[in-house]
Amino acid sequence: RADDGYRLWLKYDRIADAAARQQYLRNAQFITGAGTSPVLQAASGELQRGLSGLLGQAVPALATVSTRTGGIVLRVDKQASAGEQPLKAEGYRLFSEKNNLVITGRTDQAVLYGAFALLRQVQTRQPLAGLNISSNPRINFRLLNHWDNQNGTVERGYAGSSIWQWYELPERLDPRYTDYARANASVGINGVVINNVNASARYLTAEYIGKVASVAGVLRPYGQRVYMSVFWAAPKVIGGLKTADPLDPAVKQWWATKSDEIYKAIPDFGGFLVKANSEGEPGPQDYNRTHADGANMLAQSLGRHDGVVMWRAFVYKAGSGDRFAQAFEDFQPLDGKFDPKVLVQVKNGPIDFQAREPFHPLFGAMPKTPLVLEVQLTQEYLGFATHLVYLGPLIKEVLEADTYAEGPGSTVAKVVDGTVDNHALSAIAGVANIGSDRNWTGHPVGQANWYAFGRLAWDHTLSPAAIAQEWTKMTLTTEPAAVRTLTDMLVRSRNIYVRYTTPLGLHHIMGESIHFGPQPWLAKSGRPDWTAVYYHKADSIGLGFDRTATGSNALALYKPEVQKQWGNPQTCPLDYLLWFHHVGWNQRLPTGRTLWNELATRYYTGADSVLWLQKQWAQVRPQLDPALHADVAARLQTQRKEALWWRDACVLYFQTYARQPLPAPLAPPT
Ligand code: GCU
Repeated sequence: RADDGYRLWLKYDRIADAAARQQYLRNAQFITGAGTSPVLQAASGELQRGLSGLLGQAVPALATVSTRTGGIVLRVDKQASAGEQPLKAEGYRLFSEKNNLVITGRTDQAVLYGAFALLRQVQTRQPLAGLNISSNPRINFRLLNHWDNQNGTVERGYAGSSIWQWYELPERLDPRYTDYARANASVGINGVVINNVNASARYLTAEYIGKVASVAGVLRPYGQRVYMSVFWAAPKVIGGLKTADPLDPAVKQWWATKSDEIYKAIPDFGGFLVKANSEGEPGPQDYNRTHADGANMLAQSLGRHDGVVMWRAFVYKAGSGDRFAQAFEDFQPLDGKFDPKVLVQVKNGPIDFQAREPFHPLFGAMPKTPLVLEVQLTQEYLGFATHLVYLGPLIKEVLEADTYAEGPGSTVAKVVDGTVDNHALSAIAGVANIGSDRNWTGHPVGQANWYAFGRLAWDHTLSPAAIAQEWTKMTLTTEPAAVRTLTDMLVRSRNIYVRYTTPLGLHHIMGESIHFGPQPWLAKSGRPDWTAVYYHKADSIGLGFDRTATGSNALALYKPEVQKQWGNPQTCPLDYLLWFHHVGWNQRLPTGRTLWNELATRYYTGADSVLWLQKQWAQVRPQLDPALHADVAARLQTQRKEALWWRDACVLYFQTYARQPLPAPLAPPT
């Protein structure tokens, strides 16, 4: 049957090889141990569904098995450990015992993750016999952030409208919610911020709390808590107060009462996400209070409830210096001033989810505050749902960046997972690319980004290539040559996109407001830091934003070791060059080419690499579902067209400053 992409990577189609099925069946004749726990029931249900599908025959779930063996046993064990290593609350272990396969962990949720790990073994054709694997999550809160609005639209969403049917809730629970919860659980996501950071106050009304509670009920058996983004001025808008000043006693009381109301409806509510004093949103600074005043008041309003506040650091003001430095200037001085229940949520880079950014300088600069890493899965600046861009390498690049906060090896990953500064709280957030499209993400490969985010959130030491391979086997094909071709495409795709849009560290030169296509000539907008010329600074001498001491000096926000690498245009990695330097058009780069020639070469080779993607995709056609293959093939055609558009627009525009012909080997633009 045609594959419409709805089942994501949880496909469970029958394994073609009968001998392999028999082999698996020896260890999977039944499932037992679920008892009455809803989470264990969900785990058992998934195993039953998955194994019955994969093995082509019903695998029963049994209440008791007496001495029967050859099956799968779910076992919650408060003492469970993985050899020497203790298991964390959500960590699992799979091992063989008396001819059974045991899935164990200290909590129901751990066993749920173990069940999905077992299914992944089978889906990727790894043996079950003699299995002995264990895994602990490295980060506590692994969240999707939905930028979904109450009216069903999704901010920067490219996969249809919101999956949440607010009008139908709380009575009708779309079965899609359960499938969404299964997919999240399968990759270890344990929390969902249900609404846009540009939040409507309406979510805090009794009516909407009831609706959110009904969604929470679907997510709960799959180990996920709901969180809400809150509108700072809610006490005024829906509470009838005259102010939203965080130090005003009536405001404090309003939030405390609201928190109690929420916890009454949703006892395991996760907490609040806040965008304040950013891009026109209200916030504590409207009352001359700091972000810490606001965050702490909200944290205290949670009182005895087990919730947190994630306060976003995505702030920048018009006309006050280099935007690169503004969040740092606002937030770094507040380090040590936050309530223990507050985490500060920081985007991966200092500007805004560009195709490539240096890591945000706040990482490593706020040792007393747990920082949430926010990455974006919806491809706002990465070709929407049309361009094939696998984000595993982007996320990994950020996680591996070395802040040098406590010496070498103080990577962003270790800042975020709490190991550098010994934080008990740790969190990571991915801005979801999920919508009402039948295949969830618009571009079928967008599913890989949802998958990769979850896997890296669970364990940031995994390699993006290994994750891409897993996803490919589970979602597209297990034929080895095709798996190799597809994994290679995925792994290279992000660099290809960077080359034909923003090579060498160019950034923010995309179309105004819509954030689509090239517009490097944009010189006037609502504010200077929304233009393109603000960022690329092309002139007759050269190109790029000087952020060294001779320029904005934003580079000084990083530790000396980082400054040393990036501060010298001769040693600065080419990927970051124009982020930090204004480089002469005729300056020779380590590649042997001048800046102009290198820039033009990258635009051309980048756009031509889309032909390579198309060729690879054509090769795997026999192994893939025809409808899915045709879908991506068509999107690749659009991608090629748009890559040429980017190339020609940018090369021709920058050429008006460089005043030079294209380097000899490049064909003139057609
Ligand atoms: C970007 C995006 C906005 C979003 C904002 C944010 O600027 O374009 O739509 O609201 O980020 O992260 O708050």
